This record gives sequence, C-alpha cells and structure tokens, in this order.
Amino acid sequence: MSLRERLDKFQKIALLSYKTPIEKLDGVSKYLGREVYIKRDDLTPVAFGGNKLRKLEFLAADALRQGADSLVTLGAIQSNHVRQSAAVAAKLSLDFYALLENPINTKNKNYLTNGNRLLLNLFNAHVEETAQITDPQAQAQEFADRLIKKGKKPYIIPIGGSNALGALGYVQALLEIAEQIKNANLNFAYILTASGSGGTHAGLAAGAAHVLKNIELIGISVSRKAAEQRAKVALLLKEIDNLLGIKTNVDINVWDEYFLPRYGEPNKKCLEAVKLFAELDGVLLDPVYTGKAAAGLIDGVKIGRFEKKGAILFVHTGGAPALFAYHKL
Ligand SMILES: Cc1ncc(COP(=O)(O)O)c(C=O)c1O
Repeated sequence: MSLRERLDKFQKIALLSYKTPIEKLDGVSKYLGREVYIKRDDLTPVAFGGNKLRKLEFLAADALRQGADSLVTLGAIQSNHVRQSAAVAAKLSLDFYALLENPINTKNKNYLTNGNRLLLNLFNAHVEETAQITDPQAQAQEFADRLIKKGKKPYIIPIGGSNALGALGYVQALLEIAEQIKNANLNFAYILTASGSGGTHAGLAAGAAHVLKNIELIGISVSRKAAEQRAKVALLLKEIDNLLGIKTNVDINVWDEYFLPRYGEPNKKCLEAVKLFAELDGVLLDPVYTGKAAAGLIDGVKIGRFEKKGAILFVHTGGAPALFAYHKL
C-alpha cells in the first residue's frame, strides 16, 4: 500500500482548499548566491494561515468523530497554534478554551494584547492564563476535567498539535511537495523547516524518507538543544510509523544555533532574516519560528553548511500575526 493510500484511511476535515504554492525567492537567492524556494504554508486558507491548519485537518475530524462540543489547547500568549485552533473551532461551531503562558515574562502591552492574542478575542476564545506550561499534557487534562465537570465534552489538542495524528498533516504536505517537484521539474538538495513541538519536522521526515529520499531535511530548533529536539522528533516519528503501519529509517537533522536566548525571544540574526525576506522578496516571516529558521538558512549558506549542490526549499510555516506583538522589530 502506498503512503498516500495509508493516509487516505484517516478522516480529515478539508481546511485547505488548495495546494500552497512553491515559489522562487528571487531576491534572497540573488543575495545569497544560492537558489532558494519557499513552500507557502503561511498561505493556508483559515485566519491568516500557517502550518497548524494541516494538523487540524486530522485533529478536528477526530474531535467531531468523538462528539466533542469544544476544543481545548495551550501555548504561548502569542501562539499561532492557539490562534489557528480557535479559528477552526469557530468554523466548526465548537467552543474553544485555551491555557496561555507568557514564556518571555514580558509586560509589553503589544505582546499581551496585540497580534495573535487580539485575534483570540474575535474568535470568542475562553482564555485562562498560567504562570508556566511545564507539563502540557497534565495541564491540558486538568483544564479539560474542569470543563467536563461543567457538562462540556472537550477534545484536547496537544501543544502545537503535535501528536502522531496531527503530524499526518505534514506527511500529507510532503506528498504535496513531492508532487509539485515532479510537476514543475524542480530539483532540491535540502528542505528546511522550523522545528518546535516537532510535528511539522516529524511529518516531513516520515514522508521524505519514503518519497524524497535524496533530499536532506533540516529542522532549525526554535526552543531546544539539538539532542533533546532530535529525541522529541524521533519519538513522534515512531508514533507516526505505528499509526501508518510503516517503518521509517532516517537520521533526524537538527540545527540548534539559532534559537537563543530562548523560545519566543528573537535574536539579532532572526530579526535580520525577517527584514531581509521582507525587503528582498516582500515575504513576511515571524519573530519566533520562521525568522529563526531563516537565520539558519542565511547563516548556513554564508558559512558553507549546505555542502550538497542544488536548491534549498524553505518551508514557510506562517506566524506573521506575531509581528504585531513584538516591539523590537
Ligand atoms: C509559525 C510556526 N512555525 C513553526 C512552528 C513549529 O511547528 P511544530 O510545532 O510542528 O514544530 C510553529 C508552531 O507553533 C509555528 O507557529
């Protein structure tokens, strides 16, 4: 059975009505002296788009199948995942509950009220704040248990939408990329993605290992040292394998030089990358994920980390609404 046939066995809610484009970044390519293309997952169709909609196609279908009347999830105050989950809940007439933390401990008004946080109000999200998310699974369960006591039927979406079911969205995305490569006769040596809760990275890795074996996938960590992030992605990959009934043998590549000082706090190279993509190609990155991933892309080319010849495909996972929450830009 093909990977596509295995994926098609899972129920999905169609949130993406089109394939997101792959475009050449002329300005960045010229600046770097290396061909760079971009997979426009920032243009997925719901509520300013982003990578989480691909995961939510599978997760929201599961929620409806289980008869849930509400979605519960958690993340940073400026989480794109929470914003996209809230929008999907609105679209499906489900109630939405979110537990939010302030990972950079800021009192900046824009961070606390603008960007993704402002959008949550539009979707009628019920928000609770917590000092810190230290045990996402337990904290989400505790939140859901309180809702159950009030008679609700909540469905928990894990942090970042990153369990095996959610990650199927990126196995699917990889198949879409493979088809686009074939149809447009493109030739990539590398695919680059931001790697956070790991579902995007793991899903792409599972797909690539089976249908794009010659392309090297690199995840740029936005929050953890390489060993820890590799282990996280490897565990998810194993769970994807179990869910799909496949066996994936692949090295997980993680670059961890671009996320400091910490998750959610941009560094100089990240801010430069955000500016560069905007001024050279009119593309909006974000200060938490894609800015750091693009910093890895730019630095990687400059210092010769991409040893193989061939173009680089940068997966734009979205996040631009957070630009309005960061005063340093
Ligand atoms: C814009 C953006 N890019 C990348 C990621 C990371 O994806 P993952 O959590 O699947 O590693 C996220 C996650 O929240 C995101 O919002």
